[in-house]
Amino acid sequence: MNWLVLCACLFAGVAANLVEHNATPPKIADATFLQKQVDLLSLYFHINEPLQEPKLKAIAQSWSLTNNIDKYSNVTAIKVYSNLIDYGMLLPRSVPFLILDPTHQFEAVTLFNVLQSAKDYQTLYNTAVHLRDIVNEGLFVYVMAAATVHHPETQGIIVPPLYEVFPSYYHNAEVMNIAHRVNTHGKRLVDHYPQTFAWEDNMVIRWNTTVWPYLGNSDISTFYYSQDYALNTLYYNNHLTYPFWLSGHNGPLMKYKRGEYFWFFNKQLTNRYYFERLSNGLSEIPEIGSDFVDEGFASGLVYQNGIPFPIRPDELRIDQPKYSELLEKIKTYERRIRDAIELGHVVSVSGEKINLRTPEAINVLGNIIEGNVDSPNLDFYGSLINTWKSLLGNSIIQGHVFHKQHVPLVIPAAIENYQTCMRDPAFYMIWKRALNFFTLWSSYLPSHSEEILSVPTVVIKKVESDKLVTYFEHKYLNVTNALYLNERESKVVEDEISVLVQQPQLTNKIFTIRVHVKSDVAKKVVVRFFLAPKYDSNGYEIPLHLNTENVFQLDQFVYQLPEGEHVIKRESTGNMYTIDQWYSSYEVYLKALNALQGKGQFVIDMTQFFVGYPRRLMLPKGRVGGMPFNLFVHISDYVAPETPYGEGVNPEQTFGIGTGARRMTGYPLGFPFDRPLHQYQVETLTNFHVHDVLIHHKPTPEIVVPQ
Ligand SMILES: *[C@@H]1O[C@H](CO)[C@@H](O)[C@H](O)[C@H]1NC(C)=O
Ligand SMILES: *[C@@H]1O[C@H](CO)[C@@H](O)[C@H](O)[C@H]1NC(C)=O
Ligand SMILES: *[C@@H]1O[C@H](CO)[C@@H](O)[C@H](O)[C@H]1NC(C)=O
Repeated sequence: MNWLVLCACLFAGVAANLVEHNATPPKIADATFLQKQVDLLSLYFHINEPLQEPKLKAIAQSWSLTNNIDKYSNVTAIKVYSNLIDYGMLLPRSVPFLILDPTHQFEAVTLFNVLQSAKDYQTLYNTAVHLRDIVNEGLFVYVMAAATVHHPETQGIIVPPLYEVFPSYYHNAEVMNIAHRVNTHGKRLVDHYPQTFAWEDNMVIRWNTTVWPYLGNSDISTFYYSQDYALNTLYYNNHLTYPFWLSGHNGPLMKYKRGEYFWFFNKQLTNRYYFERLSNGLSEIPEIGSDFVDEGFASGLVYQNGIPFPIRPDELRIDQPKYSELLEKIKTYERRIRDAIELGHVVSVSGEKINLRTPEAINVLGNIIEGNVDSPNLDFYGSLINTWKSLLGNSIIQGHVFHKQHVPLVIPAAIENYQTCMRDPAFYMIWKRALNFFTLWSSYLPSHSEEILSVPTVVIKKVESDKLVTYFEHKYLNVTNALYLNERESKVVEDEISVLVQQPQLTNKIFTIRVHVKSDVAKKVVVRFFLAPKYDSNGYEIPLHLNTENVFQLDQFVYQLPEGEHVIKRESTGNMYTIDQWYSSYEVYLKALNALQGKGQFVIDMTQFFVGYPRRLMLPKGRVGGMPFNLFVHISDYVAPETPYGEGVNPEQTFGIGTGARRMTGYPLGFPFDRPLHQYQVETLTNFHVHDVLIHHKPTPEIVVPQ
């Protein structure tokens, strides 16, 4: 039994009844692991520049794919990739890479197959070093991350967060310009400019995107959410865990119910964005239309090579001839999907009917709407979300310049890159439209029955919560790795100057929710908390059955409920799908290197969960005087998941992503809000409770940093 032992409870301040899910306890890394961690991180060192270390250069030059073909299991991939190299048909270095472009995608997928088929770690590593300076850096970083999370030899190895590898996806052109300036000037003149100051040995750029005067985006007041570095990185990481081009059938990371997760994950993020809109007095998320798009978007971002991200003008007409091909595609896919939902089945490639009138079919629907390789009929149902992104991003239409008459040179808009799409309000508008399909689908399922919803032996007497408070705090992001090395630095392979960007980030005070229950019997239950707005933007109270579409799952945990009266005490830090932050890669590198040399330990633990949701974004900003939200509390009987939690999760810490071994229960994701829930269904439930909460925002004066 994996109950927490008493001392751990006292220590962690959690109730003894929590069924602990950390199946894999923190582990101390051994020398083999540490060496891999150090090796692989070194590859990202100033990725826009060629390798600096003589040792690495030697490996790069001496390794050959074709001479080592017996060290790879996929000979086809090696042959195809070697041909691409020999014919000079790789995407050139320094230009933007776009996974949605079919030619770029072909190269990326082939390279992934090369790396993935390396029979041992040394082959994987040598291949990576060999290709580091040949392959386009955007493509390289993308494929390396996908390979690191999927290759059996690199499980648990920390991939550097993208905001440190490519800060230009996260900071606008002005910030990056200042960064280059202070990188050259050092401490000189740092106090001369208003945006910079020196802090110990670091040059810091003070930044607050909300007040950048050069952007006229309509939802600028929510930028702290849509442009949050961790959230955008999470979206990218999640994609790398479940790349639409990678099937779950050739493991080791299976794509367990990926379609269902795709729906849930995007619904959560879309709804959280809605909460931020309401917090800032904006309207409901508009659904994207097929005639024109009201909201334009200028990201202010510039690719590392100096090409600005394209701007979408306001009121863009998409019913123009140049968009008609993609728009027709979208309309066709949508029609087919809607027909399938209404008919009750989709048709697979082989003509077989797949029933949609079952709760499990959410996975099929999710696969179809993502248009991933596990879709039953990719050609027929297409790739709805990605087609929308291509249409609005425009770069596939624009891509008429080819390298070697083969590789399109494109300028992806923010919405087309996984690491930047959440910045564009159109992302949520697309999702608003796509989520309608899921709602339509769920309307054909029977409503949840009383037997499923109720646990008559459990009575929630009341719910209490701490005051919910959000505020902004400063975060310092290290952008040094993207700044060019001078001659001295390149000789010692080290940065002399450290450049940080100071940015406000939304966060919330740790809070506890207490659920007072009376249970007639002792039993194992699942407790779930959901957050939803109480009023819409016009001030109308949102009825429960419509709020189903707005809920954000705040927490879920398995609990051993004792007989009698009891208080379930849950801290906001308990949610195991959230993380505080990813370590800085520089920190990880130093720690691993030190541990390798016998100085200190390197612990592999869950705190670095690759697809963890930032804990500080659990609560929306709210308002200064308090903003009303509904906190729904539901207690259900425990149903074991298909794969026992943590089973098969390899001890080297895969975090079990995608294996199904991270599901806590056998319930569908989002249960009971996975189908519309009406007031009459919950009226008599003793195990369901609606608690009114206020979310308070505490304005902070500009925090003064020691100078
Ligand atoms: C091997 O690589 C080729 C070319 O990329 C790919 O088509 C094939 O699916 C790969 N096979 C496996 C088993 O991954
Ligand atoms: C930022 O990263 C660089 C390496 O890229 C490192 O030299 C520097 O010390 C880091 N700064 C901080 C504050 O960690
Ligand atoms: C950003 O700047 C605006 C205007 O000066 C200010 O009101 C806001 O508090 C700043 N945000 C943070 C978190 O510092």
